[in-house]
Amino acid sequence: MESKHMQKKAWHCLYALSLIFLFSNARASDYAEALTKSLLYFEAQRSGRLPYNQRVPWRDHSGLTDGLEQGADLVGGYYDAGDHVKFGLPMAFTVTMLSWGVIEYGKEMASAGELEHALEAIKWGTDYFMKAHTSPNVLWAEVGDGDTDHYCWQRPEDMTTSRQAYKIDETNPGSDLAGETAAAMAAASIVFKKTNPHYSHILLHHAQQVFEFGDKYRGKYDRSVGVVKSYYASVSGYMDELLWGAIWLYKATDREEYINYVINKAHSFGGIGWAITEFSWDVKFAGIQILASKLLSEEKHKNYGGILEEYRSKAEFYICSCLNKNNGINNIDRTNGGLLFTRQWNNMQYVSSASFLLTVYSDFLANLNQHLSCPRGNASPGELLALAKSQVDYILGLNPKNISYLVGYGLNYPTKVHHRGASIVSYREKKGFIGCTQGYDEWYSHNGSNPNVLVGALVGGPDRDDEFLDDRGNYVQTEACTYNTAPLVGVLAKLNQLYGLQLIGSY
Ligand SMILES: *[C@@H]1O[C@H](CO)[C@@H](O)[C@H](O)[C@H]1NC(C)=O
Ligand SMILES: *[C@@H]1O[C@H](CO)[C@@H](O)[C@H](O)[C@H]1NC(C)=O
Repeated sequence: MESKHMQKKAWHCLYALSLIFLFSNARASDYAEALTKSLLYFEAQRSGRLPYNQRVPWRDHSGLTDGLEQGADLVGGYYDAGDHVKFGLPMAFTVTMLSWGVIEYGKEMASAGELEHALEAIKWGTDYFMKAHTSPNVLWAEVGDGDTDHYCWQRPEDMTTSRQAYKIDETNPGSDLAGETAAAMAAASIVFKKTNPHYSHILLHHAQQVFEFGDKYRGKYDRSVGVVKSYYASVSGYMDELLWGAIWLYKATDREEYINYVINKAHSFGGIGWAITEFSWDVKFAGIQILASKLLSEEKHKNYGGILEEYRSKAEFYICSCLNKNNGINNIDRTNGGLLFTRQWNNMQYVSSASFLLTVYSDFLANLNQHLSCPRGNASPGELLALAKSQVDYILGLNPKNISYLVGYGLNYPTKVHHRGASIVSYREKKGFIGCTQGYDEWYSHNGSNPNVLVGALVGGPDRDDEFLDDRGNYVQTEACTYNTAPLVGVLAKLNQLYGLQLIGSY
C-alpha cells in the first residue's frame, strides 16, 4: 500500500521534474550535488594519516614525519593546491572561510545532509593549527617549500622533497599569519560551540594566545619565513589580519577588548580607510567590513555606531564594485560571459569569495528590509543574491565554453588539472615508488586525462575572454587551491535551500 503510493508519488515527481527540465533552463544547476562534491575536495587535499572514513579512495597516508626533524608533530593539515607544501596563511584562510560558511549556512548544510562533512573539513585544519601552535609565542608557518617541492612531480604518498618546517616566534614575528590563524580558530570555536564544547573551548584558548602573540610581536611573516616570499607573500601587510582576528575573537567571546580593538584601530590599521575590490587569502578588509556592518544591527553596539557605519560604507563600496554600480574604475571587470574578472592567475578565487560576501550581505540587507545604495543606483538584496547565483552558475557550466570549473561536476569539466596526486596513478593501485623526475617524464607530460578525478576542486578558470585551455602545464587556469572552494561551500548550501526547494515547490 505504502510502496504503491510512494511509487505513484515518485512518478509524479519524475513527471514534474521532466516538465521543469523541458520548460525551464535545461542546464539548471544541481547545487546539492555541487555542495556534496565541494566537500570531497578537502579530503583529497588531506595530509597526514587518513582516517577509516576517508571517502576519496585514490589517496593514502602521507607526510607522516612532518616536523620530526624540528622536534614538533606537524602531521596533518592540508596540501595547498597542486603541490605538497603546507602553507599556513592560505590554509588558515581556507578554514576561516569554511567556518564562516557554517556559521551563516550551517542549517542549510544540515538539511542537505552535508553539515558533518563540513565540520570534518574544518577540524582537519584546526587539529593541525593546534599542533602547529607549540607554545604561546611559537607558530609553525610552513612545512616544505615551493622551490624544492616544485622540482619534483610526485604523489604525496611518495614524497622525497624537503619537509623542512618554518616557524614564527618572538624574534621572527608574523602578525599576518598569527592574525589569520587566530581568526580560523576563533571562527571554528563558534562552529563547534554546541556540538563539541570542549574542543571549542581549547580552540578559543589557542586563538586568544596566537592573537596576543601576533599583536605583541609585530611583523610581516614573509620577512621571517623567507621561503614563502615567491609563493604567498603578504602584500597587504598584517593590519588586516589583526583586525580580522580581533573581530572573529569578538564574535567568539563577546569580550569588549576585542571590539575595542576593531573600533580603536579602525583608522590606524586601515579598516575604514581601505576601500578595496578584492577579498582573498591576502586581503581581508572587505570581510572585516562586512562583519563589522553586521554588528550594527545589534542594540548593544549602538555606542560604536559612527565607526561601524564607516566600516559599513567601505563594505558597500566592495559590494557595489561587484555589482558594477560604482563609478568608473572602481568596479570589478566582467568577461563577456558575465564572470567577475580580477586577474588572470587563478581568477576563480576572487569569484568564489565575492559570491560568498554577496550572499552574506544580501541576507544582512534582507533581514533589515533595506536596499543597497550605490553611486550608480540602488540594489535590492535579491539583486546581490542573483549576482552570486550567476557566478556560481557560470562556475557550474553556464558559460560560453559549457565547462564546469568545479571538477567532477557535470559532463564536461577539466580533466588535466595541474595536481600531482590526481595526475599520477593512485598509490592504492600501483604501490611502486614513483620518483621525482620520473613523475614529470611519465605523468606530467602524458597527454591524456588525469587518472584520478579531483572532485570538488575549483580550478583557476578562464581568461578575460572566457577562454580556457585544459592543459596540465597551464597552472594559471587548471590549478585548484583550497581557498577557491572554501567560500563556495556556504553559497552552494544557501542556493540549494532556495532553488532546490523551489523545484519541489513548483510541483
Ligand atoms: C554551449 O551550449 C549551448 C546550448 O546548449 C550551445 O548553443 C553552444 O553552442 C555550446 N557552446 C560550446 C562552445 O560548446
Ligand atoms: C594532445 O592531445 C590533443 C587531443 O588529443 C592534441 O590536439 C594535442 O596536439 C596533443 N598535444 C601534444 C603536446 O601532443
